Amino acid sequence: MRVAMIGTGYVGLVSGACFADFGHEVTCIDKDAAKIARLSAGQMPIYEPGLDMLVARNVEAGRLSFTVDGAAAIRAADAIFIAVGTPSRRGDGYADLSFVYEAAEEIAPLIERFVVVVTKSTVPVGTGDEIEAILKRARPDAQFAVVSNPEFLREGAAIEDFKRPDRVVVGLKDERARPVMAELYRPLNLNETPVLYVDRRASELIKYAANAFLAMKITFINEMADLCEAVGADVQQLARGIGLDKRIGPKFLHAGPGFGGSCFPKDTLALVRTANDAQAPLRLVETTVEVNEARKRSMAARVAAAMEGDLAGKIIGVLGLTFKPNTDDMREAPSLRIVPALQAMGARVQAYDPAGHEARLLLDHVDFKSGPYEAVEGADCAVIVTEWDEFRALDLDRVKQLMRRPLMVDLRNIYQPEELRPRGFTYISVGRAPVPPPPGAPSRQASPPSAPQSRAASLPDRAETAVT
Ligand SMILES: NC(=O)c1ccc[n+]([C@@H]2O[C@H](COP(=O)([O-])OP(=O)(O)OC[C@H]3O[C@@H](n4cnc5c(N)ncnc54)[C@H](O)[C@@H]3O)[C@@H](O)[C@H]2O)c1
Repeated sequence: MRVAMIGTGYVGLVSGACFADFGHEVTCIDKDAAKIARLSAGQMPIYEPGLDMLVARNVEAGRLSFTVDGAAAIRAADAIFIAVGTPSRRGDGYADLSFVYEAAEEIAPLIERFVVVVTKSTVPVGTGDEIEAILKRARPDAQFAVVSNPEFLREGAAIEDFKRPDRVVVGLKDERARPVMAELYRPLNLNETPVLYVDRRASELIKYAANAFLAMKITFINEMADLCEAVGADVQQLARGIGLDKRIGPKFLHAGPGFGGSCFPKDTLALVRTANDAQAPLRLVETTVEVNEARKRSMAARVAAAMEGDLAGKIIGVLGLTFKPNTDDMREAPSLRIVPALQAMGARVQAYDPAGHEARLLLDHVDFKSGPYEAVEGADCAVIVTEWDEFRALDLDRVKQLMRRPLMVDLRNIYQPEELRPRGFTYISVGRAPVPPPPGAPSRQASPPSAPQSRAASLPDRAETAVT
């Protein structure tokens, strides 16, 4: 099959490279000339494990190419994928569909024979109808079918997710598209991947429902973590206890600083808007958005409380800035809330992230360091914000020696309190009993568990309840 992929970002590039690896002939198109120039020179514009090799292999084999001028590839394509961004529309939370509609306008004059136009971008229900209308308006004579084929890959594991997905969802309105989609994904038959053919509107909603469900699961365990802190239980034990129940499952039950990233925040918000417009409000999702926002805000207060509220002139060593490990993606990363909030309280922040180079453009007055030990050197507190593997096995004695004060706030629970305590750290994590300071260290009193309150009353200051 000949594939034109419009949008060569995290999804377009990975999907394009994987389709090429399946044996299809793929042209990745992007209007960002600098990105295309880098790709054409064999450099990856994003950090995604394994992507450089996959791209090189398929370019070499002549199945994958990159261009800013997609006209020829679009004209020749059997399937044209739209994989452009659908960010939150500034101010109102609706998905901004301008890039999607722009792509449809670009496709219309180039259709020469029957072609399948596939929306891979995450788009609100009904967008397929609008794309169809745009194409029909511009080209009443054109033969095409518009398909929804949402993408479920996770950054950091994107290639594996694309090649071994739990399922592929294809939303059709026109049966002529079915054999084209079946042929595109035929290599997945080997693994017996379920390919689910559904109505186009259902397909569009499936993507949002999946993300909203996962966001709710994370938010659930985050709230349970707060309860654990308040009553003296361990959220990791709790997560294991419920996660072994097959109806619940162990994934997305890691308590932390709140979800971020390029998808969950914007998609939950857009779904809430869709549901309200349809007069079928999704109260659970609305609450998830609200609780998660409050949680991200409260993380700096958690650090401040660990330092008795006195951050003036203190040095905080932040480990990890990206929204999750194994990606360079900084979109909606919790660090973007936490770092400025710490600075606003008077702290000086020094930070290290293995791939989050874009942070330099997004965070002011941060002293960026070249490694984890440099980031904690001279610090009054180390804060683990992203659970990169290289932070999991730090030489803790060296960390302690380098720090001005052995205080660690671990927002990802990558260490065990028993590991830190004998080494003389004060260790504060999420949803677990705080480790008190070692004998002889300046005293920090554990706050008493907060009395049960209404959720609204407890949200802003929940963090303070848990720290030493
Ligand atoms: N990032 C993820 O993990 C992920 C996972 C699943 C689904 N999605 C969805 O996939 C879509 C794309 O996300 P992304 O993270 O890849 O975005 P991205 O911002 O990384 O990439 C989008 C690319 O599209 C290009 N573009 C925009 N308009 C164009 C046009 N008219 N012609 C050519 N190129 C154009 C941009 O220059 C950019 O390079 C979004 O709807 C997102 O919600 C993302």
